[in-house]
Amino acid sequence: MTKLDIPGGTTMNAKLLAWVDEMARLCKPDSIHVCDGSQAEYDALCEMMIASGTMIRLNADKRPGSYLCRSDPRDVARVEDRTFICSHSKSEAGPTNNWVDPHEMRARMEALYDGCMKGRTMYVVPFSMGPLGSNIAHIGVEITDSPYVCTNMRIMTRMGQPVLQILGESGDFVRCLHSVGQPLAPGATDVPWPCNPDNIAISHFPEDRTIWSYGSGYGGNALLGKKCFALRIASTMGRDEGWLAEHMLIVGVETPTGEKTYVAAAFPSACGKTNFAMLQPPASFKGWKIWTVGDDIAWIKPGADGRFYAINPEAGFFGVAPGTGADTNANAMASCAANSIFTNVALTDDGDVWWEGMTKEVPAHLIDWKGNDWTPASAAPAAHPNSRFTAPVRQCPSVDPDWENPAGVPISAFIFGGRLSKTMPLVYQAFNWAHGVYLAATMGSEATAAAVGQAAIRRDPMAMLPFCGYNMADYFTHWLNMGRKVANPPPIFRVNWFRKDGNGKFMWPGFGDNMRVLTWIVDRVRGRTHAIESPFGFVPAYEDLEWAGLDYPREKFQELMSIDREAGVAEARNQEELFDRLFDRLPKELLFERELLKSRLWRAPEVWALFEE
Ligand code: GTP
Ligand code: SPV
Ligand code: MN
Repeated sequence: MTKLDIPGGTTMNAKLLAWVDEMARLCKPDSIHVCDGSQAEYDALCEMMIASGTMIRLNADKRPGSYLCRSDPRDVARVEDRTFICSHSKSEAGPTNNWVDPHEMRARMEALYDGCMKGRTMYVVPFSMGPLGSNIAHIGVEITDSPYVCTNMRIMTRMGQPVLQILGESGDFVRCLHSVGQPLAPGATDVPWPCNPDNIAISHFPEDRTIWSYGSGYGGNALLGKKCFALRIASTMGRDEGWLAEHMLIVGVETPTGEKTYVAAAFPSACGKTNFAMLQPPASFKGWKIWTVGDDIAWIKPGADGRFYAINPEAGFFGVAPGTGADTNANAMASCAANSIFTNVALTDDGDVWWEGMTKEVPAHLIDWKGNDWTPASAAPAAHPNSRFTAPVRQCPSVDPDWENPAGVPISAFIFGGRLSKTMPLVYQAFNWAHGVYLAATMGSEATAAAVGQAAIRRDPMAMLPFCGYNMADYFTHWLNMGRKVANPPPIFRVNWFRKDGNGKFMWPGFGDNMRVLTWIVDRVRGRTHAIESPFGFVPAYEDLEWAGLDYPREKFQELMSIDREAGVAEARNQEELFDRLFDRLPKELLFERELLKSRLWRAPEVWALFEE
């Protein structure tokens, strides 16, 4: 093969041609299609998927240009126990990743890939993570046998012919191979959602900048630009090249006087990044504006002026549907009002979509995510808990004017927040960078529907446990080092929106009211508000938060902010397990930070007593 002809152009990139040729010989597709990224191509792929039963066109009056897909019920989320970091040595992957020797994994997967695309088309999907041509952006090419992946990649990334132009004849790219793992026998009819759940493997070869994914068509398992490239491979690139690839939203806060402050926040999967990135301030915050740069991934580099600059490498949202409604996230609702793909949500009788939490009134009849009749009397939810919308970022009403600025936006604070129903207070600020890295590294969080088979509660350092492409202890060292690369590293905060009371109710209203915490953070960054030094970090007094428009009594705030000494000591003790696992490479700073916390706790009165008059 010397060149690939595609509508609108050709590629002569020798590495790409050789790789496509090699993969085609392995996977043995019936045909090859190089995606040009055009609307016409997208429309044709959708028509084809409607004909095959993969897609349902939604009512064009209610949801123009939009489609519903229902996955195989065995293929609904990321599979962490089938995700592998195949670096040359096991210690390079570290104890928090599944490791298989790269030679062994290649052999194992070559056997799976052999002939896996028979009866299907092999799509070649060139994409850019980051604005086209930006020197922060990186190019990938995904080879896939899933047209669903092609259409989602067109929303989630900058995809198609313009990327091949930038790649030129000799440019390099991250190699992403994907197959649903279900070849079609001659004459056989396809199923709506082909997959191979028993043989799923999501493998990363960091030294070769290569991703091999097999068996799943869903989300981060299959849209390889997202978690596989922009987090797992990019985190290793960032370590080597001096930048950060993080599971973070990026949001801008504008005051009524026009002062703008950007912050980046890491919350684990399904823990509120999309909501926080599109936060709608309560009415009492007159004149304040929130600007969305990204909702899931940030690439962060030190700038010449001694600050960190962040870009969102994605061009779309792959957002959790349930719980998203006009009340909780009107910006997300507007983002997916048109030109969107919905996966595993329910279908209404008038051809629109619905999910739990979208509206207060529950429709009298729906087709649920499995394709069955559903009424409010049905026991199971109408939409799968990890059902998602794929929507273009540019459709978000709060999208930041600088969201595609190739230079990125300057980051003034980092926020880390888990989902913890016990112990963890609403907000506190680290004493300094190393203490902040310690707080982020020891973050705990409760399981969500975003991944299958998670433990009920786990340490999720920096919300990166499933996404760090190398040894977690080295990643901590990298974070510590990055703080030394900028003149004034941004202050680091911990938050928790999910604390519950004795009756199992959320103690904090969350959503728009998180603005009260965000403005305190911005004021701290700008050096214009007060904080109390507690054993955990700097905390706001009741008076330091803006309460207008919310009846939140002082006693309730004290309860929300309290950690009793026993619980604090138990938490510090419990961190030992993580530290023991990483001990051989764990940076000393983190050991000392833990000892300091224990000393402070031992001497301190109960923390909430600090709030007493
Ligand atoms: P990934 O895309 O999986 O990385 O997740 P994400 O962090 O972007 O999650 P998302 O913002 O979509 O939130 C998922 C769930 O958290 C939804 O069901 C929301 O309703 C819920 N949620 C978001 N913000 C809040 C909050 O402030 N308080 C509470 N109680 N729930 C929230
Ligand atoms: C997550 O699980 O953190 C996601 C969804 O953002 S997926 O892309 O499927 O990984
Ligand atoms: Mn995510």
